[in-house]
Amino acid sequence: MTFHMEVDTSPVRWGFIGVGMLAQRATAAAVHEGEGIELFAAAARDAQRAATINPGKVHATYDDLLSDPEVDAVYISLNNDAHFPYIEASLHAGKHVLCEKPMTMSAADTTQAYALAEERGLLLSEATWSLWSPRMRRINQLVAQGAVGSPRNYLSTFTFSGIPEDNYRLAPEQGGGALFDVGIYPLHGIVALLPEETLYSVTSASADNAGYRVDMTTKAQISWETPDGNRGSGAIVASFDMHPSQRFMIKGTDGEISIPDDQSFTQWHEAGDLIVNGAVESFPAVNPYRLMFEQFSKCIRNQGGWVPGPWQSIRVAEIVEEIQARAN
Ligand SMILES: NC(=O)c1ccc[n+]([C@@H]2O[C@H](COP(=O)([O-])OP(=O)(O)OC[C@H]3O[C@@H](n4cnc5c(N)ncnc54)[C@H](OP(=O)(O)O)[C@@H]3O)[C@@H](O)[C@H]2O)c1
Repeated sequence: MTFHMEVDTSPVRWGFIGVGMLAQRATAAAVHEGEGIELFAAAARDAQRAATINPGKVHATYDDLLSDPEVDAVYISLNNDAHFPYIEASLHAGKHVLCEKPMTMSAADTTQAYALAEERGLLLSEATWSLWSPRMRRINQLVAQGAVGSPRNYLSTFTFSGIPEDNYRLAPEQGGGALFDVGIYPLHGIVALLPEETLYSVTSASADNAGYRVDMTTKAQISWETPDGNRGSGAIVASFDMHPSQRFMIKGTDGEISIPDDQSFTQWHEAGDLIVNGAVESFPAVNPYRLMFEQFSKCIRNQGGWVPGPWQSIRVAEIVEEIQARAN
């Protein structure tokens, strides 16, 4: 007698909660383009705006979308302070959750969110799209294989300018500020390179509000010690008040890897290079948003997808908190 296991090969039905700039300019298109995924539903405070991303259906409220039994997974791209409440509501509604960065406003909430996901048997991931970029994944693989020896020094920045005055990024009560908005990219960059059990400490940090109510620039020095006793340190800069560029360099006992262009975390429409101990590796243009939705969806369907470990988001949230405490 032969048994056939049922394999669900139907597209994963995504529901979008919030239809702001990112959903309109990038993530909805990524789901429309992607394989094995479908933009099944969307909800925004303005139904007409929700309709602009061409979902299968528009729900009048976020809660209506969460009550839709046909939605498999929810993508949350709300202002940062709303992430945690809607992660919890989505998990309680039985939905898998991909939530925009920063996952929550505190390490305790991020830890609690993952605990709830595990308890409910659902997948939760922070949508830090750079982590799905093939170039970033290659750096992680190279460092894990010892291409630089023991990492000793990390330098990374993510800076830009020109935030509209009415944007939530300038409102502390909505989770604004440069550290939460772009500082998490350099932090995810180093956390992804080092083992899970690595201990971090923030040795110095400064935040400049430049007359606004949020940090317009945060700079921090971080040191680490890996479980096998290797120590290193790094510097990161996050800013809403500087020339737009993103930098990335990791130097170890035996080598160095750097990104020569200024789109370290956002390589997308253009090809990019990597300098590995003086040799150039090239990466074609790719859409990491699409890879993120596809890989997350494959994980849901047990088809061999990849998402970052929960510990990565928890570690980043812990470092963010330490930077905030030091900078104040
Ligand atoms: N991965 C990336 O590349 C990337 C890039 C940009 C942003 N992000 C992240 O995505 C999220 C949204 O960013 P965005 O640039 O799309 O923001 P945005 O254009 O300012 O949109 C803000 C979002 O927050 C929602 N919202 C709900 N209540 C609000 C209120 N009282 N005031 C303002 N907004 C409210 C809006 O919902 P409605 O649609 O229902 O009105 C909208 O979806 C943030 O967490 C951000 O960190 C990620």
